[in-house]
Amino acid sequence: MASGISFFLLAVLLSSLHPSAAQSIVRAAYWFPESEFPVSSINSSLFTHLFCAFADVDPNSYRVTIASSKAAAFSTFTSTVRRRNPSVSTLLSIGGGGNPSPEPIFAAMASGAASRRAFIDSSIQLARANGFSGLDLDWEYPRTGSDMSNLGTLLREWRAAVNAEATSTGRPRLLLTAAVYYSSVLNSEEYPAATVASSLDWINVMSYDYYTPSWRRVTSAHAALYDASSQLSTSAGIGDWTSSGVPSRKIVMGIPFYGYAWKLLNPANNGLGAPATNGTTGDGSIAYNQIRAFIRNNAATRVYDGNTVANYCYAGTTWIGYVDVEAIDDMMTYARDNRLLGYFAWSVSGDENWVLSQRGGCRLLQLSFPFRVPGLCGFLKVGIRRGLPEVGSFILVYAAEDVK
Ligand SMILES: *[C@@H]1O[C@H](CO)[C@@H](O)[C@H](O)[C@H]1NC(C)=O
Ligand SMILES: *[C@@H]1O[C@H](CO)[C@@H](O)[C@H](O)[C@H]1NC(C)=O
Repeated sequence: MASGISFFLLAVLLSSLHPSAAQSIVRAAYWFPESEFPVSSINSSLFTHLFCAFADVDPNSYRVTIASSKAAAFSTFTSTVRRRNPSVSTLLSIGGGGNPSPEPIFAAMASGAASRRAFIDSSIQLARANGFSGLDLDWEYPRTGSDMSNLGTLLREWRAAVNAEATSTGRPRLLLTAAVYYSSVLNSEEYPAATVASSLDWINVMSYDYYTPSWRRVTSAHAALYDASSQLSTSAGIGDWTSSGVPSRKIVMGIPFYGYAWKLLNPANNGLGAPATNGTTGDGSIAYNQIRAFIRNNAATRVYDGNTVANYCYAGTTWIGYVDVEAIDDMMTYARDNRLLGYFAWSVSGDENWVLSQRGGCRLLQLSFPFRVPGLCGFLKVGIRRGLPEVGSFILVYAAEDVK
């Protein structure tokens, strides 16, 4: 009897979870070979989508290419991550921050019909040849008015081409996504929001790096969800995107699995906004797992600031701003309340024992229910372990077990 009632409740929950056949939730992460994190170590059962980064754009032919040093890892990426989760989708990500930045190559490619055609056709061919289920554009960034309008043209043509390829081959259509600036407005230029919404399956909003130690000399939350005193926050950026006309169900929020380290001028003044310099080498970025090691090794003080939705920790003069479990919980609540499609992590290699990935995924799934279900996370984990990424499947697994 108890089983019957609970099955009924689960059936109701299940129907409420599938308002349409569209992708219900995205829990994604980027992987890149320079991280030296083995693809075979990715716990792909925690993700619906994995992004393999980055393919390049040839500056002369404008064709998409994969560097020979990455060819083996990229061509086996999909089969490797599918061992633990046969239904995970993989996308080939093109571009990235890079040094030198591929930005001028993207701008030139997007400005001409023939170069766009070379880019589009080669991207589709490469995705298919390497077993990817989609393509992700990482143009950081289109900066001028003509860049933005050329981006719109590129996206329209790309979408038409992936549709045509699916029709002519009878294969499932490739997914098309793009990693974009945290706001729909960049240097006063607006992204072509209507085309973004009609051509892409979703956008990965790069909602981080608002502040870095190399230019800001006070301790800062680099991925703050809220900031009452400025527009540099995730809620402000996502607000720009939705008011520009991109529906929230096409927005995937970025979660950095890394933080930034500052050097405090005065160790006793150690809150957010304390005077500091860039004391560490490089850009000061530090992976989440290294931050956790820093906290353990130095008995650092860990703080959660609920006003900005940011974690930080400090020991001596070292101060690190980052995202920990409290921040990810509140970010997922925000994602639920604003009906976003999900989250992606940059990058999968930064996690420690899958703490953030599990927390984010579980929290997001739990929040997709219209009301609280005690113990739901435990049930969801059963489904996650079985590698069934669709929310409905989790419930069916639980329901089947409960009825037995
Ligand atoms: C601090 O940042 C500046 C650039 O703003 C850089 O030249 C300098 O090397 C950095 N310091 C350290 C210790 O990395
Ligand atoms: C992968 O994630 C699942 C689900 O949370 C967990 O049960 C499993 O232990 C993880 N695997 C590894 C190798 O950490």
